[in-house]
Amino acid sequence: MVNGQSKYDIQAVRKDFPILDTQVYGHPLVYLDNAATTQKPHQVVEAMVQQYYTANANVHRGVHHLSVVATDMLEQSRETVRRFIDAESAQEIVFTRGTTEAINLVASSFCQQEMQAGDEVIISTMEHHSNIVPWQLQAERKGIVVKVIPMIDEGFLCMEAFEELITSRTKLVSVAHVSNVLGTINPVADIIRIAHAHGVPILIDGAQSVPHMPVSVRALDADFYCFSGHKVYGPTGIGVLYGKREWLDRLPPYQGGGEMIGTVSFEKTTFNAIPYKFEAGTPNYVDVTGLAAALEYVEKIGMDTIAAHEAELTHYALEQMSQIPGMRIFGPMVNSQRSTVNDVRGSVISFLVGDIHHLDMGTLLDRLGIAVRTGHHCAEPLMHRLGIEGTLRASFGLYNTHDEVDALVAGIRRVSQMF
Ligand code: ALA
Repeated sequence: MVNGQSKYDIQAVRKDFPILDTQVYGHPLVYLDNAATTQKPHQVVEAMVQQYYTANANVHRGVHHLSVVATDMLEQSRETVRRFIDAESAQEIVFTRGTTEAINLVASSFCQQEMQAGDEVIISTMEHHSNIVPWQLQAERKGIVVKVIPMIDEGFLCMEAFEELITSRTKLVSVAHVSNVLGTINPVADIIRIAHAHGVPILIDGAQSVPHMPVSVRALDADFYCFSGHKVYGPTGIGVLYGKREWLDRLPPYQGGGEMIGTVSFEKTTFNAIPYKFEAGTPNYVDVTGLAAALEYVEKIGMDTIAAHEAELTHYALEQMSQIPGMRIFGPMVNSQRSTVNDVRGSVISFLVGDIHHLDMGTLLDRLGIAVRTGHHCAEPLMHRLGIEGTLRASFGLYNTHDEVDALVAGIRRVSQMF
């Protein structure tokens, strides 16, 4: 790829996202907070509006026309998700509120049935709170032990230490595919292989990977894999838990309610087949429609193409930002001779400049129309490991441009000179 030239027409793509025309304090919006949430193309919003206008009825509950149409749409969307992450069966796709609920579901159901006091779950130093706290809750409730894979200074997980952490009491490994702070792309295929060699299943938090790279749960051989709709250009409040059929069949339900049952009496209740066993209550079926529209949208551009564009943009941003005096970039640094960064680092760049507080810099960048995230990014233990309180974080999506990287770099230079 030629610097600045993507394989798709970014300007045409940007027109699909009306919000990108926003002016902020008289400046064009430069939206670089995609790791927190992505903007939505009109195709996603329109798919949802159309369903409300033409196909709204409760699903799996009616023989009437609209209910049948809405149910068909839900199940077609489940098939779209299956295809997108290359699962074997749509029955292995459970709709959740997002990554957080998916991890809580596994933590709750898995620990209830598969773990006893003293059994261990292994997570890593670079986890989001949503892959730490659910396990700590289970540690309090069931006495399970949470062990943590250490990280080396360059921002990679220490794989030797990982293997040494595994014991006969290890029942599950749960790690992020891509760090939401460092951008590190963890070697999940190796982590899965090692876990499986010890007979241990594994959950992958794909919140920061699914929007940015092709993912095949079958090629990875992940036991559980989850992601959020809103980070992949879809609506908020919808996400996916993939689980291998044998695990989903085996685990107990997470919540009780309508549609997750087989039969109910006051004496005994039996449960529905997967995935419905894990989908108590009226599903968020309109957001599922939006999610499927989002996945079809990115599929049309191509996940490889998006990954290549974002890798090139990240590479360019790292080079430009490194030249700013006082710049400190966290996470794997990439040799500028490399033609691609997408094997070790995703499109997230956390940074600090001199001793300027991240909140001050973030607030002043906002005055220039530049939206970046500030703070601990829901990863306080990682902040402790880095010996800092927080960072600024620029994160790219499929619609970001080199001009926007230039605006960020110029903005950081300008704000830096004010201190
Ligand atoms: N998990 C999201 C982030 O990293 C909210 O910003």
